[in-house]
Amino acid sequence: MKRLAILASGQGTNMEAILNAIERGQVAGQVVLVLSDRAEAPALQRARARGIKSLWIDPSLYPDRAAYDRALLQELNAAAVELVILAGFMRLLSPVLIEAFPHRIMNIHPSLLPAFPGKDGVKQALAHGVKVTGCTVHFVDEGLDSGPVILQEAVPVIQEDTVETLHQRIHAAEYRIYPRAVDLYCRGKIIVEGRRCRIID
Ligand code: GAR
Repeated sequence: MKRLAILASGQGTNMEAILNAIERGQVAGQVVLVLSDRAEAPALQRARARGIKSLWIDPSLYPDRAAYDRALLQELNAAAVELVILAGFMRLLSPVLIEAFPHRIMNIHPSLLPAFPGKDGVKQALAHGVKVTGCTVHFVDEGLDSGPVILQEAVPVIQEDTVETLHQRIHAAEYRIYPRAVDLYCRGKIIVEGRRCRIID
């Protein structure tokens, strides 16, 4: 069983989808730690309700991003974490974490990358007028949502969509691909070759 940590800033519904999949025996890993940069993140409450060790690490106590990431790293190392899962974690990671976990940090983004990276991926897609968008699970590198793509799922945009309705359908797709990507990693089924991830399932 791989030891997993989840970093979340918000609702934590992707985290919940991963925890549910683990409970159903669909992911060969265990979540040993949940970290958040926001004291009031519902994700923290959800994780605590399940008895998972959950910590708020307050960014305002650290002088810069690297110092904050060193604090995260200390907790991740203390828990012997093997894979870091970003689930709506709304902070850019510094090289401190990325270098400590090369190709061992995953992120989910609500668009078909490389389209619409950064904040508000759903809003950007709607404003651009695309007919298809979706979600992407990728490894994190130094760039903004730019690391090797692991899995993607397309979601059609319909005429009447608002940011909320479209994000709801994208979320449903995220709950399918994120647990699957984590399981592939846990079973050693992802080979990274340059920018490309080869899935050997
Ligand atoms: C998800 O839709 C995720 O793709 C997005 O935040 C949401 C978190 O929801 N992430 C980003 O926009 C990252 N740039 P959740 O907290 O309910 O899982």
